Amino acid sequence: MTIHFIGAGPGAPDLLTLRGRDLIGRCQVCLYAGSLVPEEILAHCPPGARIVNTAPLDLDAIVAEFVAADAAGQDVARLHSGDLSVWSAMGEQLRRLRAVGIPYTVTPGVPSFAAAAAALGAELTLPGLAQSVVLTRTSGRASPMPSRETLAGFAATGATLALHLSIHKLAEVVAELLPFYGAECPVAVVYRASWPDERIFRATLSTIEAAMGDGVERTALILVGPALAAEGFAESRLYAGDYDRRFRPTRAETGGSPAA
Ligand SMILES: C[S@@+](CC[C@H](N)C(=O)[O-])C[C@H]1O[C@@H](n2cnc3c(N)ncnc32)[C@H](O)[C@@H]1O
Repeated sequence: MTIHFIGAGPGAPDLLTLRGRDLIGRCQVCLYAGSLVPEEILAHCPPGARIVNTAPLDLDAIVAEFVAADAAGQDVARLHSGDLSVWSAMGEQLRRLRAVGIPYTVTPGVPSFAAAAAALGAELTLPGLAQSVVLTRTSGRASPMPSRETLAGFAATGATLALHLSIHKLAEVVAELLPFYGAECPVAVVYRASWPDERIFRATLSTIEAAMGDGVERTALILVGPALAAEGFAESRLYAGDYDRRFRPTRAETGGSPAA
């Protein structure tokens, strides 16, 4: 008996991994985290599976489900939206499972920041402009930020920022980032990336608040940084014609030894 934690992806049901789909199909119990897991994904559960929405449950009640499934010898598919490595509350569940000796596996999912970047058709790391992506959030009622993880601290690097769980604080985010990125810095808000009602707002730091439409709350990402609307960036060396690399050696024809 095993608890299988599975990243259910950002919303579109076909952005689930094949491994995740197959595991769901083999588990007699499925616990899923609320409305961000689409019903089409739950349709992979076998007939007669026990399917539980954990949104109204507390951690003790979720662990009780794990323990009951363990006692019954039933495997569990535990679904969280996006990927499990960020803001999934998986860590505390794994700690409880280790404490009671119930085995588990972890299957990654497509994170929402990647789905948002895909919706924008954007590479978040462009040569010379941004080579880092900061996945972060602003503090929430349940989750204060560690004191050294400030927006200003991240902004000082000029990296591409992907702000989760923060759309309700857009005005604060803009005010804090303006001194670092400047009024003309591109910003994009992607609401419900990959869902049928996905919406995209592109603007600059000084215009994004006015550009927002009604009804954009909760499931949205704020992406900030020069890479979001750049055309004048350098090409990467990876595909440069004169770049010597293992699978495309430029010196092979002349008998030279290619660089690794
Ligand atoms: C609790 S976190 C879950 C993050 C998730 N584990 C991931 O890998 O993206 C929820 C936040 O992720 C972002 N989010 C999740 N799904 C999204 C989507 N389809 N489109 C835009 N943002 C999304 C929003 O910022 C939302 O407030």
